[in-house]
Amino acid sequence: MKVLGIESSCDETGVAVVELAPGEAVPRLLGHALHSQVDMHQAYGGVVPELASRDHIRRVLPLARQVLADSGCTLDEVEVVAYTRGPGLAGALLVGAGVACALGAALARPVLGVHHLEGHLLSPFLGADPPQFPFVALLVSGGHTQLMRVEGVGRYELLGETIDDAAGEAFDKSAKLLGLGYPGGPALSRLAQQGDAQAFRLPRPLLHSGDLDFSFAGLKTAVLTQARKLGDELPARQADLAASTEAAIVEVLVKKSLAALAATGLDRIVVAGGVGANRPLRAQLNAACAKRGVRVHYPELALCTDNGAMIAMAAALRLAHGVQQPTTAYAFDVKPRWPLHEIVATQP
Ligand code: KG4
Ligand code: ZN
Repeated sequence: MKVLGIESSCDETGVAVVELAPGEAVPRLLGHALHSQVDMHQAYGGVVPELASRDHIRRVLPLARQVLADSGCTLDEVEVVAYTRGPGLAGALLVGAGVACALGAALARPVLGVHHLEGHLLSPFLGADPPQFPFVALLVSGGHTQLMRVEGVGRYELLGETIDDAAGEAFDKSAKLLGLGYPGGPALSRLAQQGDAQAFRLPRPLLHSGDLDFSFAGLKTAVLTQARKLGDELPARQADLAASTEAAIVEVLVKKSLAALAATGLDRIVVAGGVGANRPLRAQLNAACAKRGVRVHYPELALCTDNGAMIAMAAALRLAHGVQQPTTAYAFDVKPRWPLHEIVATQP
């Protein structure tokens, strides 16, 4: 069975084809293509929703044609068309949903709406070393920071989450304060490589709260205060402040992940979402987990941020595990706000 997946929830248009062969448990990625809108939004310092929607419209069909050609797959062979139904920007989501449902109707194939975070969560299944259930998942993206216990496809228990800003937001907002532009995470992390992570003692919010929740809003205020204090010295100390900011975010993420592993007694963790591309986070989590005999799984670096492959994969896994049936009711809706617990499968 071949599934075409379309992602358009924010500032990346992604299209991919996966194939689930008879008797196989994990689908195989046949091809994927991605267009990032970063260059377009850069001038505005952040994502402009209306521009994002219009660009998705321009990109999605050429990307679909490219992916089908690269995968050696014809449109007729596509059996299910999957799309990101939410959460995300309403207008951007509508483009992917509209195209997917139009394609489904034209081909007389069913469609399936996927939760964007489930896509991230299951993205390590696209790699050479797919995890086994159950595992702890650390989901760290621009809009979400959550720790979850994952029992199987569609079986997710929220262990803790951010009470304010997400980890990616903390990177992005701190980067903006340092004049590093958008998206800030990768830029801040690059600059941090030349800085001293011990230079400034920034707060580690909720580090000792005893639960698995996060809070990052205070951190950006501390970065702002420190930047103001430095005044004219800021340009010379920018790398130190970037390194100290990154160290604060990474320490909280690593310690809370270890706490989640201890609380659940599980010995496997999956890290997904854009911040999962952060190298110090990977290095520190790998070192801490190696000491504890815990296996860590990541999606490939290129598949950490938004892409179509994770949407096609999540759809194929939901189908393979009988968690969701595709539909030929092509009247689509999107869910800009959509808590993950709403898609949790009823226990067998
Ligand atoms: O998962 P994603 O592509 O989009 C959402 O679903 O939100 O994540 C984007 C986030 C942004 O906040 C971006 O700054 C952050 O991931 N990010 C990073 C790195 N690469 C992407 N943050 C820190 N270090 C990185 N290397
Ligand atoms: Zn995402």
